[in-house]
Amino acid sequence: MEEVKAFNRAAQEYDKWFEEHADWFSSELEALKQAVPKTGKGIEIGVGTGRFAGELGIETGVEPSEKMAAIASKRGIRVFQGYAEDLPVPDLSFDYTLMVTVDCFLQDVAKAFKEARRITKPGGAIIIGMIDKSSPLGRKYQEHKKDNPFYRSASFHDVEEITNLLEKAGFQNFSFWQTLVNTEEEVLEKPIKGYGEGGFVVIKAEKKISNL
Ligand SMILES: C[S@@+](CC[C@H](N)C(=O)[O-])C[C@H]1O[C@@H](n2cnc3c(N)ncnc32)[C@H](O)[C@@H]1O
Repeated sequence: MEEVKAFNRAAQEYDKWFEEHADWFSSELEALKQAVPKTGKGIEIGVGTGRFAGELGIETGVEPSEKMAAIASKRGIRVFQGYAEDLPVPDLSFDYTLMVTVDCFLQDVAKAFKEARRITKPGGAIIIGMIDKSSPLGRKYQEHKKDNPFYRSASFHDVEEITNLLEKAGFQNFSFWQTLVNTEEEVLEKPIKGYGEGGFVVIKAEKKISNL
């Protein structure tokens, strides 16, 4: 798959982005910290090089790209090679799942969310970190994606699309946070509740009890 090949070809380069854009990384991390539970067993799906998992204390990941997974493993993350649409993980085995800028690379987002629900324990949650296609920054990403080796094949979504798919997959009680409102310069930003202005949006939703 083209989107995984790009990450295999340039995993080190991808990983360097976090040092070259430290304020953006910290802003995204702060937004994710509003949603990620402080306790319980979490798994990051599409864990990449493990930058977020490492900072958030998430010990397990799933990742299709061998090269990205190798870097995450060096950061101490236990990585299963696989895809979000067909998780190599038993039913009801995690308290929460996390996906950060992965929705735009999925072949089948609905299937991936159903899989996330399958592996989540009753009372558990899903947390999505995404580039909002409808935000000012999201529009910039969309316009320039052909120049970016990683995002060339990405299909960005907006928050309503993702929320609808999560609802259909059996999640409820949504909360939203946003960051990267400033599109002119990279600065450290405090997360703001809601969505509509920020380029990076965090969605948290709970697993519906009726859909165990
Ligand atoms: C933009 S990176 C994000 C990595 C990490 N979550 C982060 O925020 O740094 C997207 C990741 O999704 C992975 N990916 C692509 N298709 C996938 C799929 N179908 N299932 C799971 N991960 C996938 C890529 O290999 C890549 O590591």
